[in-house]
Amino acid sequence: MCELYSKRDTLALRGKHIGSEANDLALRLAQQFTGHQDVITLDHAYHGHLSSLIEISPYKFLKGKDVKKEFVHVAPTPDTYRGKYKEDHEDPASAYADEVKEIIEDAQSSGRMIAAFIAESMQSCGGQIIPPAGYFQKVAEYVHGAGGVFIADEVQVGFGRVGKHFWSFQMHGEDFVPDIVTMGKSMGNGHPVACVVTTKEIAEAFSSSGMEYFNTYAGNPVSCAVGLAVLDVIEKEDLQENASRVGNFLTELLKKQKAKHTLIGDIRGIGLFIGIDLVKDHQKRTPATAEAQHIIYKMKEKRVLLSADGPHRNVLKIKPPMCFTEEDAKFMVDQLDGILTVLEEATGTKTESVTSENTPCKTKMLKEAHVELLRDSTTDSKENPSTKRNGMYTDTHALLSKRLKT
Ligand SMILES: Cc1ncc(COP(=O)(O)O)c(C=O)c1O
Repeated sequence: MCELYSKRDTLALRGKHIGSEANDLALRLAQQFTGHQDVITLDHAYHGHLSSLIEISPYKFLKGKDVKKEFVHVAPTPDTYRGKYKEDHEDPASAYADEVKEIIEDAQSSGRMIAAFIAESMQSCGGQIIPPAGYFQKVAEYVHGAGGVFIADEVQVGFGRVGKHFWSFQMHGEDFVPDIVTMGKSMGNGHPVACVVTTKEIAEAFSSSGMEYFNTYAGNPVSCAVGLAVLDVIEKEDLQENASRVGNFLTELLKKQKAKHTLIGDIRGIGLFIGIDLVKDHQKRTPATAEAQHIIYKMKEKRVLLSADGPHRNVLKIKPPMCFTEEDAKFMVDQLDGILTVLEEATGTKTESVTSENTPCKTKMLKEAHVELLRDSTTDSKENPSTKRNGMYTDTHALLSKRLKT
């Protein structure tokens, strides 16, 4: 198992059950190894449900009553579509990495020391964000310079999902290797099994402290057998190659949809990890949040499960099972096309003339329709008499006006 998971013989492996446990242990390893406490995390990041992870998950602590703890530092998400430095910036990777450098310098100037920088290799809950090339290398350089370690969270994005590589962090190049990698979710294909991989040096610093890692079910044979079976299937059914081929096919289909539908502002992704950023207008990139929620519910009626995420909850997340086929992709896109066409017709948004994402939309939603969407998006769906027992709507008007709420 070790061999299959690691590209290097210096890596040590620890079995867990859930991604949260893996990330919790990663933090303990980092803090024990460095003797430091502080953690740099990305804005909108989610790393798990344990207290230690809510503390470093702005996606959660910004929503609840929790406040950011002093030892936690939040760096801007390296989002080149709607972040601080966009695709027209001459060097967004350096600009975003410099933000991390500044955070480190500020922390140090107030006597604080960095234990770790943690990030998903591609940020999922944050809106399907793919960091610009070179960003992780630069961040790793600054974090190592401060005596900290780099933790790559592969809980969502590992196991061949990106197609070209088995681990998403490998997309960043041979010269980038995280100090700690955490994995879970797809590792057991539904069975709870997770894992932390790190260097011998970090693992030994942890064990030599005398603080053993103990967990009643850790490394249990059933979970290990499941983990091995998953690896077998990925290998035998060539699912990594499938992710590449079907992912490219799906991305091409979606790009055609972008040329057709003004609501689609950006299609981004690699392999079977794709995001559709929905916008009300292409120039300002105003998030089409209500529309995204509407589309999700309509897609559910067509038996396609999607979710929306990102800070504005306007990014449709596409992360299908690794056995997803070209037929599935075609089916999904056909449904989406139909729903977008009806939605755009109902709201008066034309579906043609979308030439470039920097071209201002020549057509806008009809004023009345837009007003109705906004008004209805503040209405509780429970009040809708056309709601069916399964939470779906049948009445066309109610559907348009209510679905946009949730
Ligand atoms: C990126 C990331 N890390 C960690 C976790 C936590 O994993 P689990 O829910 O298995 O504890 C999740 C769960 O959604 C996740 O998306």
